[in-house]
Amino acid sequence: MNGRLTLASGVEMPLVGLGTWPLTGDEARAAVHHALAAGYRLIDTSEQYANERDVGRAVRDSGVPREDIFLSTKFNARWQGRDLVARACDNALRRLGTDHLDLFLIHWPNPWLDRYVDAWHGLIALRDEGRVRAIGVSNFLPAHIDRLIAETGVPPEVNQVELDPTLPREELRAYHAARGIATEAWGPLGRDGRLLRHPIVVELAERHRRTPAQIILRWHVELGLAFTARSSDPARIAQNIELFDFALSRDDLAVMGRLDEGRPPARDPESHGH
Ligand SMILES: NC(=O)c1ccc[n+]([C@@H]2O[C@H](COP(=O)([O-])OP(=O)(O)OC[C@H]3O[C@@H](n4cnc5c(N)ncnc54)[C@H](OP(=O)(O)O)[C@@H]3O)[C@@H](O)[C@H]2O)c1
Repeated sequence: MNGRLTLASGVEMPLVGLGTWPLTGDEARAAVHHALAAGYRLIDTSEQYANERDVGRAVRDSGVPREDIFLSTKFNARWQGRDLVARACDNALRRLGTDHLDLFLIHWPNPWLDRYVDAWHGLIALRDEGRVRAIGVSNFLPAHIDRLIAETGVPPEVNQVELDPTLPREELRAYHAARGIATEAWGPLGRDGRLLRHPIVVELAERHRRTPAQIILRWHVELGLAFTARSSDPARIAQNIELFDFALSRDDLAVMGRLDEGRPPARDPESHGH
């Protein structure tokens, strides 16, 4: 079973996604194949990952009807412009071998270019034309989203950001919730594999008879977050969606609150992007 959330436009988005960076070629195709077979319906890719062709091929070869799959991709800085976004979409559709995107994201704000509002106008037009079902952003800070809303009146449906129990982004989640923006976590298992070995996570895993990864991913589900978890191992891919036959209690979540390291995200969107 796979949980879902409803985006502001009414489009339904699965909570459990397969992340595909840095997988390419056979490895990317195999991961998508195993994920779809295990029940995933959200696949996350990007122009930057150079694997959209592989992802698209695996989706087409899967036998799963296209309309059952939520295909999400992102475009790079050079397409940040009202009309350029339409070309970015054409290119993504061609590489993925499909006729529509379920979610199209501005990958990074690149604020020094000062073009993300133009890009947002372009995304709104694509959604109006029906080539893209839902539109959003990635790695945006509240100040960037404030500008999108002030200058277009249209909030993003999704902001995909680095988020895990060591970096819970509580203020950002509250900001999103107040504006009807869904939060999607990248790097949901935490940086460097350390969180998977943390005594709090290991103890909860033993008590619930689950793996540490399942405890962490269930934490995302409990918070109502969508996430993109990446693995190239078929057993781990399957394990990462087996999250809907157990729950974390209020006490479990309170204990996991101690995992917050109070650190900033790995990359500052004011100075990093592509
Ligand atoms: N929007 C953005 O700017 C942005 C930036 C970075 C990433 N992303 C997206 O987010 C996705 C996920 O981020 P990520 O790949 O950095 O981190 P992640 O999914 O949190 O972690 C991936 C790591 O966890 C391991 N792993 C996965 N499942 C496991 C399990 N059940 N047990 C133990 N280890 C497990 C994987 O190794 P194995 O392969 O060996 O299982 C891999 O080393 C990316 O693939 C990409 O799609 C987006």
